[in-house]
Amino acid sequence: MITSLAYFGATSPNYKEWEHFGPCILGCELVEPGPDGAVRLRFDEMAYRLAIHPGEENGVAYIGWETTGIEGAEDIVARLTEYGINAQRASTEEAIERKVLGFYWFIDPAGIRHELIWGQMRSKIPFHPGRAISGFRTGDQGLGHVVLAVPDLEQSDHFYRDVLGFKLSDTVDMPPIYAFFYHVNGRHHSLAVARAPGDKAAFLHLMVETNSLEDVGTGLDLCLTHDIPITRTLGCHTNDRMVSFYLHSPAGFRIEYGWGGLDVDDLWVPRYYDQTSAWGHHHQHPELSPFLPITPAK
Ligand SMILES: [Fe+2]
Repeated sequence: MITSLAYFGATSPNYKEWEHFGPCILGCELVEPGPDGAVRLRFDEMAYRLAIHPGEENGVAYIGWETTGIEGAEDIVARLTEYGINAQRASTEEAIERKVLGFYWFIDPAGIRHELIWGQMRSKIPFHPGRAISGFRTGDQGLGHVVLAVPDLEQSDHFYRDVLGFKLSDTVDMPPIYAFFYHVNGRHHSLAVARAPGDKAAFLHLMVETNSLEDVGTGLDLCLTHDIPITRTLGCHTNDRMVSFYLHSPAGFRIEYGWGGLDVDDLWVPRYYDQTSAWGHHHQHPELSPFLPITPAK
């Protein structure tokens, strides 16, 4: 069983910019680089949760999901095999690089690399935010959420629910947007998938949630000070009630920086909306595409 979003990996020629952007804008903590020079960032007690690898192009490399342990991961691997997808057991070296006890990885029907991990390493050193913030809401709810655009929404919906075990939180039908939101823990959604405009999958955004609204406000001020493009203005989502804004990261993908997300439980009944936002979230910088290619290289 998948229990949370454990980590996220991207590639970028601008990976070095994250040494400043991560701590000084987002407020995460810069830690030791990976073996390939990847910039690694902490958000909580975990050794790291975000890695930006050197690469010729901006792209999403992998999405790491925490499972209930090796048995929980192997239950999913069995369902993947039945579905026709072959999952690979990562080598000891690969597990050490991710700072986990072990993981399986596979490419999903939309071409996205997922990693099913267990035993994410916790640091003995307390988390030290890179700027003065109250911290990130992670813990059992994991790093945050990821939103993907997929060419075959029905196929992906079946795959994420019936094979990986995600539970539907709700549906948004706001033409041309049609999207499903899924939970695996108390966070309203750890994953959302929208219909892609073309025939290729793309990455839409990574959401991280702070512990206070002030952290979002000061983040907004910093983006204005440092000329970081704000691609959606401050707003509140209809479904998870997150108060957030979206910024364009140096690796070309968007980050939703928010506070106040709704919790769900086992009694949650999926909802239906015709709008993504109750107020705000106005689009800006149309020259910056919200669709980042998926490059499952790592
Ligand atoms: Fe989001």
